[in-house]
Amino acid sequence: MSKKLLLEKAHVEGIRYYDVYRREGGYRSVEKALKTMGPEAIVEEVKKSGLRGRGGAGFPAGMKWSFIAKPEGVPRHLVCNADESEPGTFKDRYLMEFIPHLLIEGLIVSSFALGSNDTYIYIRGEYAWIVDILEQAIEEAKQNGFLGKNILGTGFDCNIHVQRGAGAYICGEETALIESLEGKRGNPRIKPPFPAVQGLWMRPTVVNNVETLAAVVPIINMGGEEYAKIGVGRSTGTKLISACGNINKPGVYEIDMTISVEEFIYSDEYCGGIPNGKKLKACIPGGSSVPILPANLLLKTAKGKTRYMNYESLGDGGFATGTMMGSGGFIVLDEDQCVVRHTLSLARFYRHESCGQCSPCREGTGWMEKILKNIEYGHGKLSDIDLLWDIQRKIEGNTICPLGDAAAWPVAAAIRHFRDEFEWHVLHPEEAQKRNYGLAHY
Ligand code: NAI
Ligand code: SF4
Repeated sequence: MSKKLLLEKAHVEGIRYYDVYRREGGYRSVEKALKTMGPEAIVEEVKKSGLRGRGGAGFPAGMKWSFIAKPEGVPRHLVCNADESEPGTFKDRYLMEFIPHLLIEGLIVSSFALGSNDTYIYIRGEYAWIVDILEQAIEEAKQNGFLGKNILGTGFDCNIHVQRGAGAYICGEETALIESLEGKRGNPRIKPPFPAVQGLWMRPTVVNNVETLAAVVPIINMGGEEYAKIGVGRSTGTKLISACGNINKPGVYEIDMTISVEEFIYSDEYCGGIPNGKKLKACIPGGSSVPILPANLLLKTAKGKTRYMNYESLGDGGFATGTMMGSGGFIVLDEDQCVVRHTLSLARFYRHESCGQCSPCREGTGWMEKILKNIEYGHGKLSDIDLLWDIQRKIEGNTICPLGDAAAWPVAAAIRHFRDEFEWHVLHPEEAQKRNYGLAHY
């Protein structure tokens, strides 16, 4: 059974409220960090822990913190990215809804480490009910001396502000998020400069995901070295996985990154297998942006090694035969699912969410959607498959932000691993049309 560091207390009755959370040992890390450790010592512990950003990119959190610029007299900010919108990803929602004080506790320690007196939570607009939960937790923390002026008599002041997004996926990209927080249209900025140097109102800013900031709590409580002993290699600590699709037990699971993909899918402790005895066809293990893998490459690598639920093992083989851990949005497809239709659905999403600033993304996502639609509905040509391949290659690496890559990779992986399915649609147009009768909403 995986060790639980974040969700261990998530089901304690009343844990959403300060009194219960505190009784269960909550806010100890704030006392320890603010009273006995300096900001540098906290950053050191996070570095030692090996914690990697849990939003999707997996960038080392301690390193990001150490990059923050400290110009004299310029305020610094911490921004919590709670704009969780990656299709298949709903782990942050769970954490914020069931154990909100864990995030607030992590935010206070992290704000102290980074010198942020005004810290922001930018939350997906659709998570409206969680805004109320967070605001109540912030108010309770304030009333108990953990937020506001002179926290625990240490002289450190900190306020946390919650800002709702307005429904744009692109605002989860950190620089678009910053633009949106500043009251502007959420267009991504060119990096560098990174937010750690010029972020919110051009001030040094660290943007971290909800789960990353919550993980700071166990790191401070147990020490970075102990935290790093959990997991394997550079995949330290625990990871939240939101599992969905064709599985018996969809939900959010905390894993310690040493379990195999096969165990995660079939064990009763996690996904509980595939309904109705169907066969596993494919899986997107890290949210819609990461490459899809067919069952044979999902359970074992191309070299026949068992594949595990961690950054290194999922990435084994690169994009030719591997994928990515991403945000942990684990989407399972059984033998009845159509990869072409699935890829069309993702292409439609990325076309809709493109901010339109750069041509390869703005035009390319639209073209990919149109071609995929033709193929899926039995109006495609064999040459369309090569055209699709060509378009996704022209998008990848040629855009301002990673949405372009995120739109290109699923198409590339689908063609790479399921080309025969694309060809079937072209060679059997009548059957493809019949199959899709009634699905005019595309
Ligand atoms: P990235 O790799 O560009 O950056 C990672 C982080 O490291 C950023 O905060 C960046 O500012 C920082 N960084 C990198 N190099 C730096 C340097 N030299 N100096 C200072 N800071 C530096 O990736 P990004 O754009 O942050 O995230 C992309 C990922 O987000 C994708 O892999 C995707 O899986 C995921 N994603 C997750 C979503 C969700 O709902 N959780 C939604 C959309 C995407
Ligand atoms: Fe906008 Fe797409 Fe360019 Fe990102 S890649 S800046 S979403 S047009």
